[in-house]
Amino acid sequence: MSAPTAGPPTAGSERLPELLPTVEMHALVDQAVTRADERAWTLGDLDWASLRPETLTEVDRSAVRFITLVEDHIPGYLSHFLTAFPVVGAQLELERFGFNREYFRFLVAWAHDEERHASALARYQVEAGMSTREQLLADLAEEGRKAFTLPYEHPVQSFAYTLVQEKATQLFYQRFRETVADPLLRDLLGRLARDEARHFAFYANLVGAYVARDGAAAVPGLKEVIATFRMPLADTMKGYWRWSLRVADATSYDHTEAYEALVRLVRGFADAPGEASVDDLASFVQAVRGVH
Ligand SMILES: [Fe+2]
Ligand SMILES: [Fe+2]
Repeated sequence: MSAPTAGPPTAGSERLPELLPTVEMHALVDQAVTRADERAWTLGDLDWASLRPETLTEVDRSAVRFITLVEDHIPGYLSHFLTAFPVVGAQLELERFGFNREYFRFLVAWAHDEERHASALARYQVEAGMSTREQLLADLAEEGRKAFTLPYEHPVQSFAYTLVQEKATQLFYQRFRETVADPLLRDLLGRLARDEARHFAFYANLVGAYVARDGAAAVPGLKEVIATFRMPLADTMKGYWRWSLRVADATSYDHTEAYEALVRLVRGFADAPGEASVDDLASFVQAVRGVH
């Protein structure tokens, strides 16, 4: 990921307490992990016999290849979060360890979901005759080994980034699903979208808790996230932009739509509806969306 380029670091965000109290994080994580268990599905729940590869268009195939690469990057994403929120080290302050320990519980449940997405899409490619297992493993390794990092200083920025990214992924799966004829792929995309919506809900609650605590002071940091937003792999995958624009075009998908989710969230948590910083974030998002 590239370093932030939109102006100087946010004034004030460094002075805000970085972490929520452990007990508050525990409650948010507990809800998300419980839901993950209740709504889990397996590859065996899919009706693989319903696959109709002859209905797949070139764009369908291209989009499936693309999302398989993105989902398959889960080892890189998880490694990043475990480095940024360490759970090993006697030098860690107890409060930090407590928060990270709770976040870890979410991360392993989330990684399990994303790993299932990667496995399902990989199997789909093989069963649809789009690739052989051997070729696919080699192709995925090429991108998978590249490092993934986020440039943000403050944890709430990292959470806000993930919030936008989960929402963008959910929207993409929903749009893509509407254009697809293959019943198996439609079923799979519906399941993926529901899981991403669940991930989004956790980050919305988490960022919401920060906004509820910090009020308007949280807004500049969030603005910086929107200003520097790139989808995962955008800076490391060869031909990413050409590829993603082609896929987005064919499915009438626009990832900047996900920015609105952050504005709605901040509006929902801010005390006064007409508060200047919230309006500022809203018009900023409008401006960013206009130039994308
Ligand atoms: Fe996913
Ligand atoms: Fe996700």
